[in-house]
Amino acid sequence: MGKLSVIIGTQWGDEGKGKWVDKIARDIDIVCRFQGGNNAGHTVHVGGKKHVFHLLPNGVLHEGKIIALTSGVVIDPRVLMREIIQLREHISVEPERMWISTKAHVITPWHVYLDTKSEENAKTPIGTTKRGIGPTYAERDLRNGLRVESMVDADARREWLEKRKEADPSFKSFCENTSHLWEDFDRSADFVAKFACQAEEKIRRAHQEGKNVLCEGAQGTMLDINHGSYPFVTSSSTLASQAAVSLGIDPRKIDKIWGVGKVYATRVGEGPFPTELFDEIGQLLRKRGNEYGATTQRPRRCGWFDAVAMRFAREVNGLDGVYLNKLDILSGLPELKIAVAYRHPSLGKLDTFPTNGDVLRNCQPVYETFKGWEQEIPRSGSISTLPLAARDFLHHLEESSGCKILSVGTGVDREDFLIP
Ligand code: IMP
Repeated sequence: MGKLSVIIGTQWGDEGKGKWVDKIARDIDIVCRFQGGNNAGHTVHVGGKKHVFHLLPNGVLHEGKIIALTSGVVIDPRVLMREIIQLREHISVEPERMWISTKAHVITPWHVYLDTKSEENAKTPIGTTKRGIGPTYAERDLRNGLRVESMVDADARREWLEKRKEADPSFKSFCENTSHLWEDFDRSADFVAKFACQAEEKIRRAHQEGKNVLCEGAQGTMLDINHGSYPFVTSSSTLASQAAVSLGIDPRKIDKIWGVGKVYATRVGEGPFPTELFDEIGQLLRKRGNEYGATTQRPRRCGWFDAVAMRFAREVNGLDGVYLNKLDILSGLPELKIAVAYRHPSLGKLDTFPTNGDVLRNCQPVYETFKGWEQEIPRSGSISTLPLAARDFLHHLEESSGCKILSVGTGVDREDFLIP
């Protein structure tokens, strides 16, 4: 039996999971994505070159690894085709190393349209990525969605389309006016057909035969459909346990669960964000940290590290430890803060993350304040070589969040990190 590990985001997404996935993937045989779709955007810097993926997992850059998208992922074949073609410029991408689940649901041009329209018409938009994620999961749950197994079979695909047109006149008229989109869709569906397989079955067998499997989460814990700040969440479960569901694997076989976070916090889209900074420090974090969405290029909202949220992430995911990013961005700030609790106007002091969105919206963070450090920090080596103030900050971050720090990122390159 090989090792099965899961890595997930502990905040509101964009934690920089790619950097650590890429590092961990060296000892891994199969890297899977288990939820979400091309609403994600992972950036990996290798040898000064920037790579951005939306659908394929980060491990894809390592020649010889198997890449899988399992049942819980939603797949826009046009995006998948684009990413496969882009990848082929660097490495070989053949069906032996790219497993796309026949059970995964398909994002069509219609779903993208629905997502865009509902955001444009909403009184209170969610701030989605408009990639069709929500409508595709909604149709899956209504049990009239299109699965990869039907998409890759031209007859089944046509049958699904005809049935939908019959059932829904607005879908019919959309199709009539967007034939170019559907031609593109058909072409992509045919292109990705050879990668469709019973990915979950293959992963289970490979795992039993000793292969190491890494499941890579997208978005973050606070965007989880069940436990996040509903309704300002994504439409899938972003928690580690979802990996077992999506792979159809015994949850007790998971060996390690790692979280990824930043030493401050960011959020894109709408929704409550207790530690958000509206002042020049927030702007500075955005500028220095290059906090712009990898998928939509929207500026990210920035704030202080939230230990209440991190404690919640530790609990709901069962974290063995956390990889932290972007310590270098804090260098030079005279003082730093960590939210250790919230204060609510009628409920008083809260030590745990509220389950109700309205409660969360009215919470004010209770901060502990720390001295900053002036000097540049070392890019690699040991955490013990950091200035005293930086070590003190990390120590308190670890204490207040109850999460063991596994490593700290100090720059964009994959070799830029410190270890305990
Ligand atoms: P959706 O996933 O496109 O439906 O968007 C729902 C919410 O999740 C919005 O607030 C998005 O900004 C957010 N979101 C979705 N994907 C990501 C991501 O990869 N990083 C950060 N936020 C995301």
